[in-house]
Amino acid sequence: MKKLFLPAILSLVTSASLEAQVGEAPALGLDRITQNDITGGGLDLFDIRLAGMKIFSTPFNKLDGLGDGPMDPNDTVTPGGRPTLQNNGMFLRVNGLDAQTCLECHSVGSNAVVPFRFAVGGAGGVNNNAMFQPRDIDVDDSSGNFFAFYNGRFINPPFLFGSGGVELAGKEMTQELQALKVQARANPDVPVQLVAKRVSFGSITYDSTAQAFDTSRVVGIDPDLVVRPFGRKGEFATVRGFDLGAMGFHHGMQPVELVGQGVDDDGDGVVNELLVGEISALHVFGTNLERPFSDTPSGAEKNGGALFARIGCASCHRPALNTFSPLLTYSFPEVDRNPTANVFYAADLANGPAGFPRNRVGGVQVPLFSDLKRHDMGPGLSESFGSPLDRMFITARLWGIADTAPYLHDGRALPLTEAIEMHGGEAAAASSAFQALASSDKRDLLAFLRTLRTPVDPGRDLVQ
Ligand code: HEC
Ligand code: HEC
Repeated sequence: MKKLFLPAILSLVTSASLEAQVGEAPALGLDRITQNDITGGGLDLFDIRLAGMKIFSTPFNKLDGLGDGPMDPNDTVTPGGRPTLQNNGMFLRVNGLDAQTCLECHSVGSNAVVPFRFAVGGAGGVNNNAMFQPRDIDVDDSSGNFFAFYNGRFINPPFLFGSGGVELAGKEMTQELQALKVQARANPDVPVQLVAKRVSFGSITYDSTAQAFDTSRVVGIDPDLVVRPFGRKGEFATVRGFDLGAMGFHHGMQPVELVGQGVDDDGDGVVNELLVGEISALHVFGTNLERPFSDTPSGAEKNGGALFARIGCASCHRPALNTFSPLLTYSFPEVDRNPTANVFYAADLANGPAGFPRNRVGGVQVPLFSDLKRHDMGPGLSESFGSPLDRMFITARLWGIADTAPYLHDGRALPLTEAIEMHGGEAAAASSAFQALASSDKRDLLAFLRTLRTPVDPGRDLVQ
C-alpha cells in the first residue's frame, strides 16, 4: 500500500559538489533509496517502484553527476571521457551523452492513436535512436553510392512494458540450459540437445580428449548458454544489466556498483552518482511495468493468426513462453549463469502490477511473440559495426506492435508490411511466403498483428 518516504528509512547521501552553485541541487534530491531500505523490508513494492520511476524520469543535472569528466585522448569511446560537441562539455549525441533522462527516449505509450499516448517506460521514435560508437560518418556521400557511410550502430528504443516476464522466461531458460550442460559433462562425447521452453539452441558435447566443451554447434546464443533477452542483439540477461550500461552511455551517470563507493571515476567532481539501491529500484520499476495485451480477435484476425503460424512466422515469433514460477527474483551482485545467486527480493508477476496471466503449472504465460534467440537476418538488415553479430538480431517481440511504429532495429520499416518484407537470412522463406499470400490473407495477417497492443496506462497507480 501507499506509504510516504520516511527520512528515517531513507539515508541522506551528500555529493561532493553540492555547494558548487548557490541555490542549485541535484535533481535526484537528497532522499535517496539504498539497498538496505529495500532488503530491510521497510518499503513495499509500491514504494520501490515509485523510487524507480523517479530515477527513470529524473532529468539529471551536473550536480547529480550528469556527464563525463575531462576528455580522455586514450579512450574516446567508453563512457567517462568522451569528446563533446564543439567543446561544450556536454552532449555530442553521437556515441552518447545524448539525453538528461531515460524518459526522453522511452515515452511512447501508443502512436497509433491521435494524439499519441505518453507512458513512462515506452518506446521511442527515430529521433530517439541511439548512435553507438560510430568512428566514421560520411553524411555527404563522398563515394557517391547513395549510402551515407556509417560504421556504428543506429538503434531504435523499444518499450519496457512486460519486461519482467521476459526476464523471468530468460532466467528459467538459462537454468534449463545450464542443467543440460551439467548433463553433457556427465556423459562425455555424447551430444546433448539444448532445448529450453521448446526453443532449440543446437547441441553441446563434452569432448573427453580435449577435456573441454565443444560449443561449435550451439546456435542463437552465446557459448556460455546464458539467454540474454535484452538489447536488440540479445546482449543482456537482465534489465539491471542493461540499465547500468544505459546510465553510463546516455547520461555519463556512474553507478557505485561499477566504479566503487566514494570513487569519482569520471573525474566530474561527483561521487556515488547512483547507489546500489537506486539501480535496484530502477530494475524493480522497469520489470513491474504492465504487460502488453491482445484485443479480442475477429474472425479475419483469427485467420491472420493461423496464417502467421502456418507460413513460419511463429517458429521465431513464439506466441508465448510459459514459466514455472510467477516470481521474478532480483539479485545483487548478479551472476548471469546462476539466476538464483544472491537473491535479495522477489516480485509476483501474476498478482502484481505486471499482470501476467497464470498458466496451468502455476507460473505465468508471457505472450511476447519471440523465442529469445538470435537469428541471421541477412545482408539487407546487416549493420556496419564490423562485428560478427552485424547480421544477428534477437527475434523482436511483437507484443504491442500495433502501437509502436517504426519497426526493425533502426526504425527503417514503415508500415508493417515493409518490416516483414525486409526479413532475409533465416527468415527469407517466411518473408517470401508472406509475399506470396493472396491479398485477403495478407490483410488478415496484418489485422492480426494490429490486435497486439501496448498496455493502456502502465504504472497508473504510481501517478498521484
Ligand atoms: C537516447 C535514447 C535513449 C535513452 C536516453 C535511454 N534509452 Fe534505453 N534504449 C534505447 C535504445 C536505442 C535501446 C535499444 C538498445 C539495443 O538494442 O542495444 C534501448 C533499450 C533499453 C532497454 C532494453 C529493452 C529491451 O527490451 O531490449 C532497457 C531496459 C532500457 N533501454 C532502459 C533504459 C534506462 C534505464 C535508461 C536511462 C538510464 C535509458 N534506457 C535511456 C534508447 C535510449
Ligand atoms: C528466423 C526468425 C524469424 C522469422 C521466421 C520471422 N521473423 Fe519477424 N523478426 C525476426 C527478427 C530477428 C526481427 C528483428 C529484426 C530487426 O530488428 O532488424 C524481426 C522483426 C519483425 C517485425 C518488426 C518488429 C519490431 O518491433 O520492429 C515484424 C512486424 C515481424 N518480424 C513479423 C514477422 C512475420 C509476419 C513473419 C512471418 C512472415 C516473421 N516476422 C518471421 C525474426 C523472424
